[in-house]
Amino acid sequence: WDGPLVDSFGRVHRDLRVSLTDKCNLRCTYCMPAEGLPWLAKENVLTTDEIERVARVLARLGIVEVRLTGGEPLLRPDIVEVVRRLHAIEGPQGPLEISMTTNAIRLDRVMEDLQDAGLARLNISLDTVDPERFTTLTRRERFSAVQKGIAAARESGLRPLKINAVAMREVNDDEFCDLLRFAIDQEAELRFIEQMPLDAGHVWSRHTMVDGEEILEKLSEQFTLTPVGDRGSSPAEVFAVEGTDATVGVIASVTAPFCGACDRVRLTADGQLRNCLFAREESDLLTLLRSGGSDEDVAWMIRASIGAKRPGHGIDDPGFLQPDRPMSAIGG
Ligand code: GTP
Ligand code: 5AD
Ligand code: SF4
Repeated sequence: WDGPLVDSFGRVHRDLRVSLTDKCNLRCTYCMPAEGLPWLAKENVLTTDEIERVARVLARLGIVEVRLTGGEPLLRPDIVEVVRRLHAIEGPQGPLEISMTTNAIRLDRVMEDLQDAGLARLNISLDTVDPERFTTLTRRERFSAVQKGIAAARESGLRPLKINAVAMREVNDDEFCDLLRFAIDQEAELRFIEQMPLDAGHVWSRHTMVDGEEILEKLSEQFTLTPVGDRGSSPAEVFAVEGTDATVGVIASVTAPFCGACDRVRLTADGQLRNCLFAREESDLLTLLRSGGSDEDVAWMIRASIGAKRPGHGIDDPGFLQPDRPMSAIGG
């Protein structure tokens, strides 16, 4: 039952994204309502043993990299232990590479331990460098906590360090150049992200979305950018910033989808397997794990899920339906 995880379009899966919790200490307007969401019951959240077990099976199916997401992954009390145990798993190319996408709150407190546990890479979400705007956008006064976290990441020396900014019309579209200058100062690669229809309020509209082309136009007012290299399965198109050592990326998931090179499989905090961010069905690994399923049973459930993966997200299809769960519950 082991061996590569290939879907019906020939895409080989090497990247596992695990959501460690659906909770978050921010309330970004595009992601969560002010009052939060009905959180998962604690007993339905995968234990660290269960996550480790699924990752072990996936390592035998060719997974080389695990990205920890949320909600906010640092809210998981045993986050350092999660990293340590996943990094101890031997994959096809040695120990699994562990990375994390976080809002950086609390990062200063755990940065060193995470690094000792084997964390290889960090992507930090930051949509504005204006403290007041940050409070409006995230509905929490945590700008300085985030800045502390970013400083800790910079000082840790972990590279590449990336900062993710979702581009939003009339929210942050006047500060793209400021964001880039900030990222350059932090020795980070900034990536601008086209907003996808994953908001809890289902108010996303293609007409208001700031697309990759417009992002590049705005950056070009103050920077000279030159495309670099082959992006492989990476979602970002990367540009060198003239006069600096820095690069900047654009993740145009909507207007230039990278689905053709997708190598991702996702596990939600409540143990549901998703073959795509936009999948309409999930496979219930939690129940299988808790009803005595063998590693082979787990592997076959994963294979069946990947076998049913569609060629792309289908945002442009006439019958497109936004997933029932918002991004914070699926995992970013
Ligand atoms: P790297 O390995 O550093 O390239 O990480 P990454 O870019 O894959 O991960 P990150 O968590 O930083 O995600 C950045 C953005 O990519 C997210 O905000 C999403 O907009 C987008 N993204 C991540 N995974 C998917 C996916 O499976 N499908 C689509 N369409 N977009 C995704
Ligand atoms: N579209 C694109 N990216 C999003 N993120 C959250 N919601 C969306 C959306 N609707 C980003 C976060 C974080 C990453 C995991 O996903 O800002 O950087
Ligand atoms: Fe939290 Fe991330 Fe959602 Fe913001 S985008 S509310 S940081 S899960």
